Amino acid sequence: MLVFLTALTSNPQVPYKTTKAFPISQDYTVPANSMVIPSFYNSLHDPSIYPEPEELYPERWLDPEGSANQNPKNYILFGSGPHRCIGIEYAMMNIALVLATASTMMNFEHEITPLSGEVE
Ligand code: HEM
Repeated sequence: MLVFLTALTSNPQVPYKTTKAFPISQDYTVPANSMVIPSFYNSLHDPSIYPEPEELYPERWLDPEGSANQNPKNYILFGSGPHRCIGIEYAMMNIALVLATASTMMNFEHEITPLSGEVE
């Protein structure tokens, strides 16, 4: 059996095989010997964790007590559990370095839009 924890349009993650049946929600238990493919998209667009998930609200990560920070299991971009990405620290530092380099070497122009005032 193949279980997609995902919508068809979303990005699948690494496939897993279940060695025993286990419940993934109150009304569904994945049978043993199934392939389970988690989804970044559904996990990162869960409105109970990320209100208005389609909106860019970076400040949702600023509050340590906020729902985004209080539910680290939803942030499966680097996987979770024993096989969580071992390159996460390197990757995050590299991304910060690229952004820092870009911010010093590139010229940015702030284009005012009707929504600009809504960004905190
Ligand atoms: C933005 C960059 C990266 C992303 C989004 C990413 C994401 C992931 C994900 C989703 C997994 C699977 C976790 C799982 O199976 O549950 C993984 C595993 C892994 N990643 Fe990354 N990764 C990144 C960068 C890197 C880098 C830079 C390295 C090495 C220098 C690396 C090394 C690994 C290794 C070795 C595994 C397998 C871990 C295991 O099976 O125990 N990754 N990564």
